[in-house]
Amino acid sequence: KRVGILISGRGSNMASLIEAAQAPDYPAEIALVVSNRPGAAGLVRAQAAGVATAIVDHRLFPARADFDAALGRAFEEAGIELICLAGFMRILTDGFVQAWLGRMLNIHPSLLPLFKGLHPHRQALEAGVRIHGCTVHFVVPELDSGPIVAQAAVPVLPGDTEEMLASRVLAEEHRLYPLGLSLVAAGQARLEGGRTVFANGSR
Ligand code: GRF
Repeated sequence: KRVGILISGRGSNMASLIEAAQAPDYPAEIALVVSNRPGAAGLVRAQAAGVATAIVDHRLFPARADFDAALGRAFEEAGIELICLAGFMRILTDGFVQAWLGRMLNIHPSLLPLFKGLHPHRQALEAGVRIHGCTVHFVVPELDSGPIVAQAAVPVLPGDTEEMLASRVLAEEHRLYPLGLSLVAAGQARLEGGRTVFANGSR
C-alpha cells in the first residue's frame, strides 16, 4: 500500500513509520510526506530518508475546503492509498475525512476515549490516572473519536512531569504506529459499520 504522511512539525512518528516501512516484508511503503508548515523539521528528516515531500501551506488558501482539496490532489497525484496523520495540527473538513474514511489513521497520545484534544498528558496528570498511553485510530469527523486500531499503555510514575510522561508515551507511539499501520495496510484491520473489524472477524 502506498502511504502518505501528513505532518506539521518534528515528525518523530513519521520517522518511525519511514524506518519500519524499510523492512522488506512491511505491507506499506511511505511514498509522500506532506507538511502544512514550510519549516517543519520533519520535512528534512523525510528528505534525508529519500521520501518525496510536499508543502501545502494552509495560509495560502482562502478556506479549509480549498486547503483540503489541495491536500487531496497531492495525495491522488502520488497514488496514495492510505494517509497517516502524524503530529498534524490542522482540523480536516468533514468532506476530506469522508473521502478518506477507512483509509486515514491518526495517533493520539492518550488511551482514547480518555483525554481527547490538546494537552492529554496534562489531562492525565490532573485526573490522577496511574495508567496512560497512546492510541492509533481511524479518522472520523469528530476529533480523536474514530474506531481504535491499536493501543499501548505506560505507567504514570510518582513525580512525573508532563514532559516525563510525554516522553514515555512518545517512545510507545514510535512502536505502536508502525504496528497499527501494518494491520490496516495488510487488511488485518478495517473500518466497517463504524467499527474496527479485525481479520478473523472479531471486534
Ligand atoms: C506526538 O505526541 C503525537 O502523538 C501527537 O503529536 C506529537 C507530535 O509528534 N499527534 P511528532 O511530530 O510525530 O514527533
